[in-house]
Amino acid sequence: MPWRRFRKKVERPIDVSKSIEESLDDAADGESEEDAAELAELDDATIAEAATGEPNEDRAPTELGDKLRGVLESAAERGGEARRERRPRSAPRGIALDRSSGAARSDDAHAAPESYPELGVDLSVEAARGLRLKNPVMTASGTFGQGVEYAELIDVSRLGAIVNKGTTPAARPGNPQYRIAETPSGILNSIGLENPGALEVARKYGKAWAELGVAVIVNVAGYSVDDYVYVVHEMTGTPGVVAYEINVSCPNVKGGMLFGCDPDLAAEVTSAVKAETDLPVIVKLTPNAPDVVAVARACEQAGADALTAINTVLGMRIDTRRRRPILGTGSGGLSGPAIRPIAVHVTYQVAQAVAIPIIGAGGITNAQDALEFLMAGASSVQVGTATFADPLAPLKVIEGLAAYVKEHGLASIRDVIGVALPAPED
Ligand SMILES: Cc1cc2nc3c(=O)[nH]c(=O)nc-3n(C[C@H](O)[C@H](O)[C@H](O)COP(=O)(O)O)c2cc1C
Repeated sequence: MPWRRFRKKVERPIDVSKSIEESLDDAADGESEEDAAELAELDDATIAEAATGEPNEDRAPTELGDKLRGVLESAAERGGEARRERRPRSAPRGIALDRSSGAARSDDAHAAPESYPELGVDLSVEAARGLRLKNPVMTASGTFGQGVEYAELIDVSRLGAIVNKGTTPAARPGNPQYRIAETPSGILNSIGLENPGALEVARKYGKAWAELGVAVIVNVAGYSVDDYVYVVHEMTGTPGVVAYEINVSCPNVKGGMLFGCDPDLAAEVTSAVKAETDLPVIVKLTPNAPDVVAVARACEQAGADALTAINTVLGMRIDTRRRRPILGTGSGGLSGPAIRPIAVHVTYQVAQAVAIPIIGAGGITNAQDALEFLMAGASSVQVGTATFADPLAPLKVIEGLAAYVKEHGLASIRDVIGVALPAPED
């Protein structure tokens, strides 16, 4: 069964009393809502499918998957070189990846690994205590599926790390439709924590992660402290996994408050997870906390090895024709360039309050954006929403950072970390 319905064609009557401009305005009226609805009509789709356009298992090829390929084609063409050949879509995902022919790059989608522009440039960073990455660029949770889907399009082993979709103890279906709406310079989403559950994630993706040669950070979600601990317990020993990122933007079943909004609750989750694993534990801060710096401090004291700043910002859109919120859940999480200044601000504030590494996230689309976060005190970054428009975005950020290091004669990318922070007081 196809997992995407076609949008019904709507005939719009012409009002001869109006100017052409007014008629065109009228015709366009509501189109963005329709586009949002069309995107949201991925109702039979998993988050991995929605994010990557790739069908799971043996599902039929998808329209969205073809669109992603189209984006990749035009990016290559804009760079002056059309892709010469593409891995057949029937090839086993990631597992049989031939990096010499299957990798993608912004200027040459099939460049040999030894000619990648970042090679020979010191981009390595400490992303968390005990976690050194070869470069500071990761993909953000929920925007890159489980990583293996994208391995058909790009050489994911070039990434510093990937962060998988939020993983809960048991499988979850996600939120009601609509789940995505476009906004100026961003998107609102209320996907919810749609995922197959910890045991299934470990079973299904562990082997592929190891074979892809990419570091995997598991994004952990739950509704009680026990949930978080359970997920980490179930994922223990999964090949490829190098750290856990704790998504504290989840309501606590006991009080309904987000774990990440309360310093004590956030600290409780952090120390419980730390007691369960020897791998680094990263806590992902929510900008919706009344005092995000207090939460950051509490997590550091509870043993967090790094902090991610930030998760999405609460937002809402109204469908003025239906006179209802567009998203099925009413409010959702705003992401993309619209939130970048908020994310840079939080990074800058938190960097002055803690000594552990910070991973910057929020609206990064290119190397300049990434540099803002690094200069504000982050030691690494995540690229999320930008990947929907351009699957090559994270690789372009790596290439841009390498070019920056070379152009500025730096010894390493580490030389820019925190340079915009106020000088420490004597
Ligand atoms: C569709 C979508 C799904 C997301 N799912 C998760 C998730 O499961 N866990 C999580 O911690 N963050 C999730 N996020 C938040 C992103 O990881 C990231 O923190 C946020 O989008 C800001 O980065 P960006 O502007 O580059 O997308 C999601 C974001 C989007 C757009």
